[in-house]
Amino acid sequence: MSKILIIYGSSTGNTENVAKSVKEALGSCSLEVRLKNVKDTQPGELKEYDAIILGSSTWGMGELQDDFVPFEQGLRQVNLGSKRTAIFGCGDSEMYPDTFCEAVNILEKRLKSCGARIIADSLKIDGEIESSQKRAQDWAKKIAGILRKE
Ligand SMILES: Cc1cc2nc3c(=O)[nH]c(=O)nc-3n(C[C@H](O)[C@H](O)[C@H](O)COP(=O)(O)O)c2cc1C
Repeated sequence: MSKILIIYGSSTGNTENVAKSVKEALGSCSLEVRLKNVKDTQPGELKEYDAIILGSSTWGMGELQDDFVPFEQGLRQVNLGSKRTAIFGCGDSEMYPDTFCEAVNILEKRLKSCGARIIADSLKIDGEIESSQKRAQDWAKKIAGILRKE
């Protein structure tokens, strides 16, 4: 069975709540899933898992959520082989049209440069999250399907 680690960084709880929905949906597909806050996670832990899902909101003007900054820097030293990965994040396209969910783009680039394989289109949640929770769960179920097939 694939062991999956979801790592989130969240300042006001939105990305954390989406991460919980993603975990619940993957769990309902009988996958073994662990959820961790990025501030309690070291990049070296990633090698213990078959698949990694990263979730960060975007802050500043197109920057990673604060707690993700040191983690992303640490990732630069890590070889992720062809580990399977996916990325999600929360942002606000109305207030920040030019940098909407830029953290997701930053993490995509980083994972690719570490040699990871991105197995699904990234999920970008816009504005309030309640109406997007079903979308997040559907996204997670799609990932579960891909992980099962491989
Ligand atoms: C000061 C500030 C800067 C922000 N900058 C961006 C941004 O550049 N791009 C974006 O898409 N969203 C931006 N946002 C919106 C947040 O990403 C959004 O509120 C998100 O849901 C927060 O998620 P979190 O609670 O998981 O941190 C910003 C919000 C604030 C308050």
